[in-house]
Parts: sequence; C-alpha cells; structure tokens
Amino acid sequence: MISLILCSLIGSNQVGLSGILMVKGTSYVNKNEVPEDENLYGTMLSENVIGVIHDHYVTFYLDMDVDGADNSFVNVHIKKEETSPEVNSPRRSFLKAVREVAKTEKEAQIKFQLYNPSEFHVVNPGKTTRVGNPVGYKVVAGGTAASLLDHSDPPQMRGAFTNNQIWVTPYNRSEEWAGGLFAYQNHGEENLQVWSDRDREIENKDIVVWYTMGFHHIPCQEDFPIMPTVSSSFDLKPVNFFERNPILRIPPNVEKDLPVCKAAASA
Ligand SMILES: *[C@@H]1O[C@H](CO)[C@@H](O)[C@H](O)[C@H]1NC(C)=O
Repeated sequence: MISLILCSLIGSNQVGLSGILMVKGTSYVNKNEVPEDENLYGTMLSENVIGVIHDHYVTFYLDMDVDGADNSFVNVHIKKEETSPEVNSPRRSFLKAVREVAKTEKEAQIKFQLYNPSEFHVVNPGKTTRVGNPVGYKVVAGGTAASLLDHSDPPQMRGAFTNNQIWVTPYNRSEEWAGGLFAYQNHGEENLQVWSDRDREIENKDIVVWYTMGFHHIPCQEDFPIMPTVSSSFDLKPVNFFERNPILRIPPNVEKDLPVCKAAASA
C-alpha cells in the first residue's frame, strides 16, 4: 500500500456503481393509482415496475505502514473555542485542533459528524519531521452514507461493518473480511464489529484502518433499466509526511497538462 502512495503521493481510490437496477413488480401502471397512505418503498420507474430503495457499501482494508509498521490512529478534532467575556474583542469564537490518539479499538470506532468534524490521521509516533510533527497520512473520506437499519436486523448483523465509517484493528492475518468469511446467512458472529469490540490496544502498533464508503440509492427513472454510473472516491493524503510541498518543480505527467502559450490569433 505504501509503495503505491509514495509513487503517486496521493492514493486516490475510486469506485463506480453501475449495472441493472434492483426492482420489484407491482400491479400499478401509474403513480396516480397508488393510494395516498401507501408507501411504495421505492419509485415508480415504468409500468408495473418499482425501483427499490437500497444502500451500497464498499469497505477499504488499509494495512497502513507509514514509515514503518508501528503506527497510531489520531482523531484530530476541529473545535470551537469561545472568546471569554472579559476579552475586548469583536470575535466571539475561533477554531482549534485537538489531537486524540486512539489507545484501543473502541476509541477508533468513528461515525462522521458534520457539526463535530475531525481529520483522521495515521501517524508514526517514532518518526518526526524537522519541526517535530509525527509523519503521517490522512484518510480523506468521499461521499458517505450511514446505514439507518436497526442493529438487530439480519442484513445489518451481517453488514455490521457499516455501523461505523472508520474502524482500526491491530493487524491480524485471520481478520481480513469485514463481513466475516461467510457473508451470506450468517448471524454476525464473526465480523469487524465483533473483532473491534474486543477493544485491543492499537497505539503505536501494526494497525489496519477500515474505511467504509456508503451510498443511499432512491432510484429514479434515469436509472432504469440500466444505471448510469454513480461514482465516489476517497484519498490517502500525506499529512506532515514531507518537509515541504514535494510536487513543486516536478514536471507534469502528460503533455496535455503542460501550459500552452500561443500567440494571439492573427487578424
Ligand atoms: C486473530 O484473529 C482471530 C480471529 O478473529 C482471533 O481468534 C485471534 O484471537 C486473533 N489474535 C489476536 C492476537 O488478536
């Protein structure tokens, strides 16, 4: 993983959803036949066809080794600090970052929150930059959706890895599949939730970061019968890994990226 990152500086990881939509049959041929108090749990897409509301989740297993095997996961909280009333300032609030190093697995069960934001860094606490920051990479999430299903629902028990958007576990060769080895029909005995709930130590250890990207899908007529691709991506970006911007003066990869200076069109 890291060799890929070092080659490209930023590991950009894109997924695309496409294919044939999940639909169910109905006796209705037009929305105006549907009683007002009846919910279709989907959208009328064509005569006798309803596209069913559903979610998609894609989990990325990130076996991080930032400048060595032993790494820590840091929740870098962005917080508001309020100006104390004695201070004679027109400013009432300002921002600060509070770094919380996750000591055990449960401290790294992360749910994204727009009004309580964080950056998620994987650092090597044993290696620092010239000015003293631990070298790291951060997980920059893409489009995200969280599962709204009840945790005791059979599909949610099997897909319990969607209970959080980020998890961090100590590296273990046997813990490879977020939904367990047998994804179908299981009762959630053997999956990321179960492993992570053991709450093992993860500070300054060989760790694995699990990031789950989610999509809610309320089908629309344009998705039928074959969907245009819905895509999203996330980045692994260096954060205090390099001493300075490492891409300055690096030539563009492809010729068409070069700035083209042409004389103004002759009259
Ligand atoms: C590694 O994973 C397996 C399966 O979850 C578990 O039985 C075992 O105890 C784990 N080992 C450690 C050291 O956590």
